[in-house]
Order: sequence, then structure tokens, then C-alpha cells
Amino acid sequence: MRMSFFTTFVARSIPACLAAACSSNMSPSDGQSSGSSSGSTSEAGSGTNSQTPPIGASAVAGWLATGAYKSWHCETTAHAARSPSPHNVDRICSNDIIASNATASGPWPQGAAAVKELYASTTDAAPGGYAVYLKTQADSAAGANWYYYGALTAGGATVDGMGNDATVMATCTGCHLAAGSDAAHTPSPGGRDEVYTPVH
Ligand code: HEC
Repeated sequence: MRMSFFTTFVARSIPACLAAACSSNMSPSDGQSSGSSSGSTSEAGSGTNSQTPPIGASAVAGWLATGAYKSWHCETTAHAARSPSPHNVDRICSNDIIASNATASGPWPQGAAAVKELYASTTDAAPGGYAVYLKTQADSAAGANWYYYGALTAGGATVDGMGNDATVMATCTGCHLAAGSDAAHTPSPGGRDEVYTPVH
């Protein structure tokens, strides 16, 4: 069921439309995804919790609106995205699992998640979009066990699916897999295993 939702959503939301001029698909009308059927990644046992984004675009949009991630470990201000990011202007929040492992090494534990607020400019009062990811298993499996949601830039088209989905791979995972691989892909200390900037 989850796969058919992804397939439907991705097919609908991925025109060759990654530029800021594209309209956002952040509020899909599907209404069919409560997120509760796929909440097995929660460490608190209730599907979604304040540390764990749900899976599925409708559920994520609703969860973002609660602002739960704002109590994570967040950068203080929005800033020009660090190279090689295409995200324009952003502010990153890491959940407790990333923050508490930020100075360690090796793969992130299951449940690692980040939210990135996307802005068109540093003077914007509110984000114009979001990007979110969640590691769903201890093994990254070349991206297959990461869920990715959101846009590249504020106002961009929404991507929604697991990291090995062809569209998600082309739009998000392909670049995030390079995090920490060399100096050019280490914009922040501790970046590795698909995470570029751990905030702690
Ligand atoms: C060309 C490379 C590239 C692509 C493509 C890309 N990102 Fe990123 N992403 C980055 C970099 C670099 C950062 C760190 C930016 C910073 O520190 O300002 C980042 C940051 C993030 C963060 C904050 C946590 C972190 O790892 O720093 C999230 C969440 C995120 N990206 C999600 C996505 C999603 C979802 C997509 C696809 C829609 C995507 N990214 C596409 C390079 C990329």
C-alpha cells in the first residue's frame, strides 16, 4: 500500500520541474496517507513522535505544520547553503539521534532524521518549503533505507519516496550519498552517511 502511494505521488509530482519557479506540491489532496501504516520506525512506539517524521507526503506536511522539529537541534539562523548544496538558503534542524552522534564516526543509527527549512532569501520571515529525511534501518543500503521528502529549493516540486526510488535517487540520494566522501563533500564537521551538516 505504501509503495502504491509513493508511486502515485511521485509520478504525479515529478515533472522536469526542479527550479524555484515550480509550484509546490506540499499539500496533496490524497488524504489517503495517515502515516500510521508505516510508522514502524518510531522509537516511542506510536508511529510518529516528536523525534520521528512520518513517511508519506500528506503525513509529513501535517507533521511539519505541528512544528515539532523546532525543538530539535537547530541552526540559529537561515544562511546561504553550504557547497555543494543546491538548497539556496536554509536552516537545518537535526534530531536527537543525529545530534548525539554528531562527533562520532560510522553510520548513523536507525531513526536519524533532519528537517531543513528552505528560504528564497535570508530576509524571508518564514520558510517557503521544507526538505526532510529519515533513516529507517541501521544499514543505509546505498540509500534504500532512507526516506526523503521535500524540495530542493523554496517553492520547488516535492519529492517523496525511499532513497532508491529512481526519481529520489536522481533528485536527492545521488548527492547525499557523497556526504563526507571527500573534502568537497564535507561542508560541516561530522558529515557522513548521507548527512551533510549534523547540528548539535
Ligand atoms: C547536489 C547535492 C544535493 C542534492 C541534489 C540534495 N542535497 Fe540536501 N543537502 C546537500 C548539502 C551540501 C547539504 C548541507 C547544506 C548546508 O549545510 O547548508 C544538504 C542538506 C540537506 C538536509 C539537512 C541535513 C543535512 O544533511 O545537512 C536535508 C534534510 C536535505 N539536504 C534533504 C534533501 C532532499 C530531500 C533532497 C532532494 C529533494 C536533497 N537534499 C537534494 C546537498 C544536496
